[in-house]
Amino acid sequence: MKVKVTYSESETEALGYELGLLLKDEPKVVILLDGDLGSGKTTLTKGLARALGIKDVVNSPTFTLMKKYKSKDRLKTLYHLDLYRLEGVGSDFDLEEYIDGQGMIVVEWPFQVEDLLPKDYLLVKLNKLSDTMREFTMTCVGIPCKRAVQYI
Ligand SMILES: Nc1ncnc2c1ncn2[C@@H]1O[C@H](COP(=O)(O)OP(=O)(O)OP(=O)(O)O)[C@@H](O)[C@H]1O
Ligand SMILES: [Mg+2]
Repeated sequence: MKVKVTYSESETEALGYELGLLLKDEPKVVILLDGDLGSGKTTLTKGLARALGIKDVVNSPTFTLMKKYKSKDRLKTLYHLDLYRLEGVGSDFDLEEYIDGQGMIVVEWPFQVEDLLPKDYLLVKLNKLSDTMREFTMTCVGIPCKRAVQYI
């Protein structure tokens, strides 16, 4: 487990970038972002995307559950899911249905559904400590993210 604190939006983006660099060559890595509204999930995701070489603007996928981004060289894929609106829908959501290849899979509001959790994932818990301070607690479950959590 690793705990990091940031003091601005750009520091959170930079933390996402650092984390992304450590994870970008994993064939399939799932990152679960668990935190309140405005805690910085999408901001962190923007940094992850930058590390993969994605040039598109990454926003919360409000009207769809998932947005897929490709890096400029087409070699890296980011799947960005926001399950906020799934509340109450039930537990029949299947993450694998949305993923059609290798890449980094980032999930905002992962605990809207039961049984979503894959076997291996990086869990990032986000806490709003103040208007500008955010705390990130990172726990790796499974093999692929061990090194990232160690070095971040
Ligand atoms: N240290 C910080 N890190 C990240 N965001 C911060 C920080 N301090 C202030 N902010 C502000 O908090 C907000 C974070 O928004 P963001 O969209 O990343 O949150 P979110 O967790 O994705 O929210 P939602 O659940 O609505 O999707 C932004 O308005 C940003 O300017
Ligand atoms: Mg968001």
